[in-house]
Amino acid sequence: MSPRSSVFVPALAALLLAGAGFAATQAPPKAGDAALGAQKYDAYERPAACATCHKDIARQHEQAMMSQAYTHHWDEIEYFGLAVPHAKKDPKFKGAADGCNGCHTPFAFLAGDVPPPLPSANSRANESVSCDLCHTVTGFDGDTPFNFNWISVPGKVKLGTREGVVSPHHVTKKNDFLGTAEFCGTCHNEKDPFGLWVKGTHLEWKAGPHGKAGIVCQDCHMPPSAGRSATMGSELPDLRQHLFHGAHDPGKLSGVIEVRIHPEAREAEPGETMKLTAVFVNAKAGHSVPSGSAEERVLWAHVTARDAKGQVYHLPVDKKGFPGEEYTIASDALAYQDIGEVKGIANFAGLKRDGEVPAGDRIFRLPYLDPQGRMTIMQWNTASFGPDYRLAPLSARAETYTWRLPATLPAGPVVVTAEVYYSRLVSSVAEFMKVPREESEPVKVNSHSTAFTILP
Ligand code: HEC
Ligand code: HEC
Ligand code: HEC
Ligand code: HEC
Ligand code: HEC
Repeated sequence: MSPRSSVFVPALAALLLAGAGFAATQAPPKAGDAALGAQKYDAYERPAACATCHKDIARQHEQAMMSQAYTHHWDEIEYFGLAVPHAKKDPKFKGAADGCNGCHTPFAFLAGDVPPPLPSANSRANESVSCDLCHTVTGFDGDTPFNFNWISVPGKVKLGTREGVVSPHHVTKKNDFLGTAEFCGTCHNEKDPFGLWVKGTHLEWKAGPHGKAGIVCQDCHMPPSAGRSATMGSELPDLRQHLFHGAHDPGKLSGVIEVRIHPEAREAEPGETMKLTAVFVNAKAGHSVPSGSAEERVLWAHVTARDAKGQVYHLPVDKKGFPGEEYTIASDALAYQDIGEVKGIANFAGLKRDGEVPAGDRIFRLPYLDPQGRMTIMQWNTASFGPDYRLAPLSARAETYTWRLPATLPAGPVVVTAEVYYSRLVSSVAEFMKVPREESEPVKVNSHSTAFTILP
């Protein structure tokens, strides 16, 4: 699917440019870093203009994070509180800090309005990733979609995936590119100044079973349902819903990782050793979980046992012994010291690496390491990675919990429960950066219980 897009796209862009009154000799539209300042805000329509006819789509989009990619509290805090000051301290990061806007507020980036006014100024930067950006994208520049290398040709023509659609407000043209995963990949893959893929949702998808089967992002994040796209439009059997729901939708997270746990024997005596095995499955996502902003997400498994008298024991996960495993088992270790450097705090010891995750719990994560080898949540400051211990699509990981049964364990049933939790932002960073609690509040993803009996 991917090679086709970059081939037919320049031809389409040329057609649109001709339609928009551009001379054939004029340079083709710019993409990626080169597009900084290449347009004016006025070239693009506001989402409110589209909303007059496309009511339901507009209401859906308002509830999706992409319509808040510039204004959302944590986005504002990380951009103005870490990225912009870091670029001031070290010019190596200037391109990366400007580039935040290429994905989070493309009109501001195209208008060269960088850094844009604060969200409180209510400028056009607040439109974030909106209708007229996506619906003017003709294709992307290069072989791999990443770092906002989409090509946008604004104007009367709006691009969609259907043939012969008529609208009183605009000309519509069919562009199959909008229906591809590569379109999403232009912003959902990110390469940092060290040349590392610090965001790889599209790359993970492409390498996985959904990519191979051609089940695209749109199929899960914009599923088709019967409806009308515009108030005066015709009834469609398969209207693309603009849900774009991800980690900010508890319903999307709910059950996304499945878990089953079992004991190695159904009966035991106090003082013996019991091994329990839990299997964790990513059965619903078309990419790793967590994906995208994996540097700041925490997905973990918490296993407890309850004896016949109601006493609860926390069971730490067994070590497997692979390199870098220490990052995947919660402890009191400190990390994120680079935040202190950006903030100019002398001798900053760091913050709790795993926030509120109980020590001994397994964390399914990809550790991002700064140039000094310490874990970082500043993805643009990532010089290497630890082991990728996330859950890949349609794959499972088995974890064991070896428990030396206390001599005092009462006879009767022991119920062992494995729970899976997800937190969008490691809680220690959220507290330090004053990000509202909702962003670090753990969401319960799933749980499963099993039982065995203690013989008298
Ligand atoms: C992140 C990019 C993105 C944004 C933002 C976006 N759309 Fe779309 N839209 C798409 C894609 C992709 C499709 C086509 C999906 C497919 O067919 O696979 C689409 C389809 C549509 C369609 C045709 C639906 C159909 O099934 O016939 C309309 C109409 C539309 N969008 C209007 C809007 C409006 C209005 C807004 C803003 C309120 C908006 N879009 C915001 C990406 C976007
Ligand atoms: C005056 C009403 C009106 C306004 C304003 C309007 N549209 Fe439309 N649009 C329509 C109608 C009507 C259709 C056709 C719907 C149908 O027949 O299913 C349409 C269809 C579309 C399609 C589908 C094209 C395809 O190939 O499937 C897209 C995309 C789209 N509009 C985007 C936009 C965007 C982006 C804006 C704002 C910049 C916008 N529209 C503003 C009325 C409007
Ligand atoms: C088979 C269905 C499926 C496909 C295909 C799919 N996703 Fe997802 N996606 C999900 C589910 C389920 C979640 C919720 C789990 C999560 O947040 O990690 C999710 C979450 C996400 C998130 C939030 C990730 C996080 O942890 O912060 C992003 C961003 C995302 N998807 C983008 C994409 C893009 C881009 C593509 C295509 C390259 C894609 N998805 C393909 C099902 C899918
Ligand atoms: C112009 C850049 C851009 C394009 C194109 C784009 N995205 Fe996004 N997307 C973003 C940004 C930026 C965010 C982060 C929003 C935030 O700040 O929370 C995001 C977030 C998301 C999320 C996470 C929502 C959540 O609940 O946390 C999903 C899912 C998603 N996009 C799906 C898609 C899909 C599917 C496509 C292609 C049809 C797509 N995106 C195309 C920039 C883009
Ligand atoms: C290549 C496009 C791209 C670039 C460049 C980019 N981002 Fe993002 N950003 C995204 C996408 C896509 C997501 C959503 C990923 C997900 O849901 O897991 C995101 C998510 C985030 C989030 C988390 C949002 C949330 O609500 O959980 C923050 C904060 C953020 N970005 C800040 C930045 C900053 C600061 C920069 C610049 C240093 C930057 N981004 C550069 C595409 C980009």
